[in-house]
Amino acid sequence: MSVDRVVIVGASVAGTRVATGLREAGYAGSITFVDPDPDAPYDRPPLSKQILSGDWTPDRASLGDFARWDADRHVAAAVALDPERRLLRLDSGAELPYDKLVLACGAAPRTLPGMPRPGVHVLRTLADSHRLRADLDRIADGRLVIVGGGFIGAEVASTARARGIDVTLVETLPAPLSGLLGEEVAAELAQLHTDNGVRLRCGVAVAGLLGEREVTGVALTDGSVLPADAVVVGVGVRPATDWLAGSGIPLDGDGGVLCDEHCAVDADRTVYAIGDVARCRDPLRDRHLRVEHWTDAVEQADVAVHNILEPVPRAHRPEFFVWSDQYGGKVTLLGRPDPGCEVTVVRAEGPRRRFAVAYHHGSRLSAALTVNWPKALMAARRSLGAADGGEDVVAAWKIL
Ligand code: NAI
Repeated sequence: MSVDRVVIVGASVAGTRVATGLREAGYAGSITFVDPDPDAPYDRPPLSKQILSGDWTPDRASLGDFARWDADRHVAAAVALDPERRLLRLDSGAELPYDKLVLACGAAPRTLPGMPRPGVHVLRTLADSHRLRADLDRIADGRLVIVGGGFIGAEVASTARARGIDVTLVETLPAPLSGLLGEEVAAELAQLHTDNGVRLRCGVAVAGLLGEREVTGVALTDGSVLPADAVVVGVGVRPATDWLAGSGIPLDGDGGVLCDEHCAVDADRTVYAIGDVARCRDPLRDRHLRVEHWTDAVEQADVAVHNILEPVPRAHRPEFFVWSDQYGGKVTLLGRPDPGCEVTVVRAEGPRRRFAVAYHHGSRLSAALTVNWPKALMAARRSLGAADGGEDVVAAWKIL
């Protein structure tokens, strides 16, 4: 079947990368974007860093304009899908027919009971970042409480501390990221926060948000209360797929769109799912995985482009790479720490905290965390990329 109409739901990094790839490959049919965010398309990593700090104007985070892809654009939300008739319905009333549909509609922040409330923020969109920045200006000498010690929480803490704001971070786990990194490594990483004046309250949950109208504090389950002039809630995200319920598109319990290793949802490869919304089959692990990383979204977009245009499909290989800018340095995680492996920490000399962690089975590396140490990251990349397991990365780090 010839492909003349591609509709992309979601104009963020994954969706726009599809448009770029299609045009670069010579696709001459129509491309139509659907996204209710009037500011799209922009890149999200700067929202908790350069845009929040005010170092960048929004144009620096732009992912391009729709004319560049010769694309139509609907500032509207998709509300229903009829895969039989290949029709997408929008809240504007428009109905869009398609030959191929790409679901790249991402995820929405989870919230706490009592939200929305003035002074309580989530951070996912450019508008969220601007609102939070305005509030950080307002509370310049005040107290910020951050709920959630994941990447949003850590990066907002770093940006707020650079402005001298008093920050307390609440995390239900024993240490931020301890579920992912293990408790020992997470405790070491947590020192980046405490070195920079952040008060950590770990192993305790939020009982409620306080205040008649504006937030005035956060009550914790141990009975304590943290006074707050503003609160940021970074407690994870949920795939934005409520609108697909009942459409026949397969969803997992969390709302992720189930797709095969080709990022295809259906057997005839008419509908694709990519980015934060996609729970893609990983043939190596024989499992479906949802990976919330920028690099994985880009890789999936490239796979979808290939599979839309070519008769022989290409399989997606999950990219586990995440970077985070914190306190003027860089934290990177390459690969997925596997709970059963050995863990070795190598610390570097120098004025700032700098270390690398190998998650390994003998000399075979399965994942690496690096903190403010680009050369260690490069060595880990080489080792993970080598078919024979590469060099012994711990030995290599020790002589860097
Ligand atoms: P996250 O899933 O990374 O972290 C959420 C954290 O909140 C977890 O540590 C969890 O234990 C904690 N938590 C959950 N409920 C809680 C509660 N009631 N009280 C206290 N703590 C609670 O999600 P996050 O940080 O919201 O980020 C959202 C998405 O954005 C993720 O996909 C993340 O990977 C992505 N992101 C990536 C960045 C990067 O790559 N540098 C930067 C910012 C966001």
